[in-house]
Amino acid sequence: MQIGILYSRIRKDEKLLLAELRDRGHEVTKIDVRKERFGLESTTADVADLDLVVDRCLSTSRSLYATKFLDSYGVPVINSPETGDVCADKAKNSLALAEADIPTPATEVAFTKETAMEAIEEFGYPCVLKPVVGSWGRLMAKIDTRNAAEAILEHKETLGHYEHKVFYIQEFVDKPGRDIRVLAVDGEPVAAMTRSSDHWLTNAAKGGETKSFDLDDRALDLVERASAAVGGGMLGVDLMEVGGTGSGEYTVHEVNHTVEFKALDSASDVDVPAKVVDWLEAKAAATADDEEVTA
Ligand SMILES: Nc1ncnc2c1ncn2[C@@H]1O[C@H](COP(=O)(O)OP(=O)(O)O)[C@@H](O)[C@H]1O
Ligand SMILES: [Mg+2]
Repeated sequence: MQIGILYSRIRKDEKLLLAELRDRGHEVTKIDVRKERFGLESTTADVADLDLVVDRCLSTSRSLYATKFLDSYGVPVINSPETGDVCADKAKNSLALAEADIPTPATEVAFTKETAMEAIEEFGYPCVLKPVVGSWGRLMAKIDTRNAAEAILEHKETLGHYEHKVFYIQEFVDKPGRDIRVLAVDGEPVAAMTRSSDHWLTNAAKGGETKSFDLDDRALDLVERASAAVGGGMLGVDLMEVGGTGSGEYTVHEVNHTVEFKALDSASDVDVPAKVVDWLEAKAAATADDEEVTA
């Protein structure tokens, strides 16, 4: 199988993926997105014969546009630009989850300091303010007081980029010092872990401690539905436990489309890259079958 990896930096995650693909004898084309140009009908990248391209771009804008162009050239791409579009934006992500009746934290979006302040006061303290685009827990604010709210809103309005003009306000979920990350392929879990921290942000990137986690039926069902809600693909589904450790009640706070797996690979007994490549192989075979049928 000929697989393209679209990237701008090869991290441990990409190395794991590349090693597994090469071990299995697949031909891998590395596409450094910084060196490519994407025209309306063709690209400088040699992608026409690839069976599948896996988007591993770190930058959201590159990921969204590059996948869109590849898709328009008819190159199968993981994840699809449609899934990327929903997952890259926390407001669209929350809407998709709510539309699919998946429990997700109460959220409001407002466009001015004044309306954002109203929403914050209604949620009460603490509540959470998130940038609509971003990851690794960056620029997230837990707001404890009205004074803090006023300061953050003014800073965002004055100093923030375009995306910070959208105020994304969320109820604070009193989770038990941890949240859950599930790597899933088309809704099927590959592995899951908890991320624990004394800090309210439990992201592995923020130093959260990771540990393997066994999903119960409720969580399995939510992961499957959350994946479908955003259009499927290779996804990182984030859940929080409501009502304490092991309560079996969950809320899904986001679904990520360029999912990391090095922490999950270390935390769990599962060979994560192997499972991911199993799925990529199946995906490429299915796409090839589709092409034969259409031809
Ligand atoms: N509403 C919330 N209440 C409590 N903790 C939250 C809430 N939303 C997020 N968190 C914590 O912050 C972390 C980062 O939030 P998340 O929405 O996943 O953003 P990011 O894209 O930066 O990972 C989560 O892993 C979780 O630990
Ligand atoms: Mg997250």
